Amino acid sequence: MNRDQSRKVGSAMVVGGGIAGMQAALDLAESGIKVYLIDNKPAIGGVMSQLDKTFPTNDCAMCIMAPRLVAIGRHKDIEVITLADIEKIDGGPGNFRITLNKKARYVDEATCTGCGTCVSNCPTSNRVQPVQKEKIELQPEFKEKVIEIVESNKNRDGPLMPILQQINSAFNYLPENTLNYISQETGYPLAHILRIATFYSAFSIVPRGKHIVNVCMGTTCYVRGSERLMERFSDLLKVKPEETTPDMMYTLKGVRCIGCCGLAPAVMVGDTVFGKVTIKDVPDILSKYKKTA
Ligand code: FES
Repeated sequence: MNRDQSRKVGSAMVVGGGIAGMQAALDLAESGIKVYLIDNKPAIGGVMSQLDKTFPTNDCAMCIMAPRLVAIGRHKDIEVITLADIEKIDGGPGNFRITLNKKARYVDEATCTGCGTCVSNCPTSNRVQPVQKEKIELQPEFKEKVIEIVESNKNRDGPLMPILQQINSAFNYLPENTLNYISQETGYPLAHILRIATFYSAFSIVPRGKHIVNVCMGTTCYVRGSERLMERFSDLLKVKPEETTPDMMYTLKGVRCIGCCGLAPAVMVGDTVFGKVTIKDVPDILSKYKKTA
C-alpha cells in the first residue's frame, strides 16, 4: 500500500444512534474518518436508554451508554444529526450523496442549556384536571405528615419529585394510598407517579426496614465475591434479597455498582460504605446497627 492509498478520505454516515450506532461512529471517527451519526429521534441512545439492566451482567444500561455519549459529544469528527430521516440516496460506493429530511426541533439547539424552564412554562401539561370523586382517605399514621408535605409543595414548579422525596424520607417508603392522594391533589396521573416511584432505587413502594443493607452485585464486586457476601447477610438476617426482617430493622438488597469499585466488594448500609468486605466482616457490620436500633 503506498502512502496515498493509506490516507483516510471522505466521510461515513451511521444511521441509527443506538448503542451499536454509537460504537460504530466512535470506531470510525477514531480511525480518522469524519462521521455523520443520524437518528430520527430527538436524541441518540436508542432502546438501550430505556433499559434498566442489561444481560448477562445486570449492569445498568446508562453506565454502559454514558461514556459513549460523552465521547461522541466531544469528538471533533462526529457530527450528530437528530430528528432526521434519509430521504434520498444517490451515487454509489465511494461517492454517495444523501438527502436528509430534518424535522423542526422548536428550540434553538445552539443556545439551549437544558435548564427545563421551557417545560415548566409550557402551556400544555401532563397534569390532568382532578376528577371529582370520592376523597382518598389516608391511613392515620401517615395522614398529618403527608398532608403537610403535599400542601407545602403542590403549587411549586415540578412538585412531584420533592413530594416523593420528602414522603419517602419521612416513612422510608411510599405508601400506596399516599400515591393516590398525591395524584388527587396534584393532578398527575397515578401511572405517571408510579413510573417515577418505581424507577429510582431510592424510592420504595413497599415498607422497608430501618437499615437498608445494600450489597453491591455490580460486575467488579461480583467477581470479587459479593455473591457469597449476600448469602452470608441472608443467613444472618434470615431473609432473602429484597426482603425485610419481621422486626422492620433491616432490608437486604442487591444493587448495581454503588460507585466505589476500587473498594470491591462493597456494601452500603444507609449512607455508610464498607469496602473490601470479607465474609468474616459481615457480623461486625450488622452488629454496628444492632446497637443503634
Ligand atoms: S461494582 Fe460494586 S461498587 Fe462498582
